[in-house]
Amino acid sequence: MLNVTILSGTNRANSTTRQLVSSLEEIYASLGAIPVVVDLAQLPAGMCHPGMYEGEVRPAAFRPFIEAIEAADALVVCLPEYNGGMPGILKMFIDLLPDRDNILGGRPVAFVGIAAGQWGALRPIEQVAAVFTYRKSFIYPERVFIRDCEDMVDATGVLCLPDSLKRRLVEQAIRFSEFARVVSPIRSLFAAVPEPG
Ligand SMILES: Cc1cc2nc3c(=O)[nH]c(=O)nc-3n(C[C@H](O)[C@H](O)[C@H](O)COP(=O)(O)O)c2cc1C
Repeated sequence: MLNVTILSGTNRANSTTRQLVSSLEEIYASLGAIPVVVDLAQLPAGMCHPGMYEGEVRPAAFRPFIEAIEAADALVVCLPEYNGGMPGILKMFIDLLPDRDNILGGRPVAFVGIAAGQWGALRPIEQVAAVFTYRKSFIYPERVFIRDCEDMVDATGVLCLPDSLKRRLVEQAIRFSEFARVVSPIRSLFAAVPEPG
């Protein structure tokens, strides 16, 4: 069984991104994977404390976030566009992930973007993909861009994706799951090198 961690890349209350993550969770479950949602809206208070970058100062409540990334055979990053870029909280979350164990190295990562505008979060996906490349993740090249998302939100605030978009998300999920299985044997290429002696 494939452990798929789905990251909701904003902490905005009642975000549309979070609803999209729920749809992705259903899709991956229907494909027989084990989806786990990481919701940045649930990050512990005090994330902006200057000591957060030091492991020993991080609150225990941050540990489950790290564990969900460590457990991921495949990581889906779902993010909105804010001011032509990725949400600041998403970059901060990545910055706070421990580097010494190369937690993102060799991990397969796919991207789904959502935006009110016409470019469907193309810009933030390009940015965040560059960051994951820096961290030596295996970038899955097929992305899904959801544009004009406010037109898909009904009067009660529910995101109603058209069938064509749902199909694209399913197709991405099927192929990304296979990609994650195929690269699995070489993930250790980027595992942390043990200290000599
Ligand atoms: C702070 C902020 C900045 C935004 N900037 C952009 C933007 O640059 N381009 C765009 O297409 N939509 C922008 N949006 C609209 C979001 O794409 C829209 O709210 C969408 O629902 C996804 O965000 P959400 O998950 O927070 O709901 C912005 C929204 C917020 C809250």
